Amino acid sequence: MEHPDTDPVAAGRVLVTGAGGQLGCALTEAFPGTLALSHADWDVTQPPPSQVTDCCLVLHAAAWTDVDGAEDDADAAWTVNVVGTQHAVLLGAPLVYYSSDYVFNGEKRSPYIESDPPDPLSAYGRTKLAGEREVGEGWVVRSSWLFGATGKNFLRTMLELGRERDEVAVVDDQRGSPTYVGHLAEATRRIVELPFGLYHVAADGDCTWADFAEAIFEEAGIDCRVRRITTAELGRPAPRPAYSVLRSEKPDTPRLPHWRDGLRACLARIAD
Ligand SMILES: NC(=O)c1ccc[n+]([C@@H]2O[C@H](COP(=O)([O-])OP(=O)(O)OC[C@H]3O[C@@H](n4cnc5c(N)ncnc54)[C@H](OP(=O)(O)O)[C@@H]3O)[C@@H](O)[C@H]2O)c1
Repeated sequence: MEHPDTDPVAAGRVLVTGAGGQLGCALTEAFPGTLALSHADWDVTQPPPSQVTDCCLVLHAAAWTDVDGAEDDADAAWTVNVVGTQHAVLLGAPLVYYSSDYVFNGEKRSPYIESDPPDPLSAYGRTKLAGEREVGEGWVVRSSWLFGATGKNFLRTMLELGRERDEVAVVDDQRGSPTYVGHLAEATRRIVELPFGLYHVAADGDCTWADFAEAIFEEAGIDCRVRRITTAELGRPAPRPAYSVLRSEKPDTPRLPHWRDGLRACLARIAD
């Protein structure tokens, strides 16, 4: 496995794609001085803008992330997640590609490690896996259940619903590791010092969405009950893995704090 010749962060300009997204925002903070390109600045379904020439590291956070929407429009999701990654690779700099726990089928009951064979259940998962295969010189970082202080995510949805309602119905038969984007962005600084390759980087610990919702209400001081339901009862279009806890089998992979610490850090950030 090839190792980058120089520390890419020290060497020059870092480019973030999808900089308006929740991970993109966190990366822009964790890597000061980045060239942060939002969807409006560069639609990655198009080749890179000609004026972007001298970057030394690409943090590719732009993606189609609407998991259910990808079932209806798999071609559009493919164009963003696979063709978009081909375009990001054209920049010619080492690249970090963020992939997903949804590349696995969820049949295991112990954490998925890098050598486990992927077998995506959904159109979204298939595009994320195909995107991984476009990365030559770079790092594929698989993470799970991302949440942050900005953007559209489960934590922000629960805060909104919990303040409006006495009870919310939340799925209790999918298990994963909710990962704070601030922790993933910080870990990315250490990932880019490692040899190119595939790394599983998710929060420590695991829970169901219902457990996570209860923890959110508890930590935020919101008086709202969680009614535990099944995936079948919710009836979303895209199949999701029932179990998608990720761990790394590689000794140097950065270990993230527990998801509950991520939750507290995120709520503190929102309160700021
Ligand atoms: N969210 C999760 O639970 C999760 C879990 C594991 C891995 N990941 C991966 O982590 C990465 C970051 O996800 P996230 O949670 O930060 O998602 P996000 O908040 O939805 O951010 C994705 C960003 O990509 C932008 N984008 C969409 N289409 C684009 C295009 N054609 N050109 C340029 N930008 C485009 C979006 O802009 P608009 O909003 O304007 O479309 C958005 O700002 C993705 O690769 C995702 O697959 C996410």
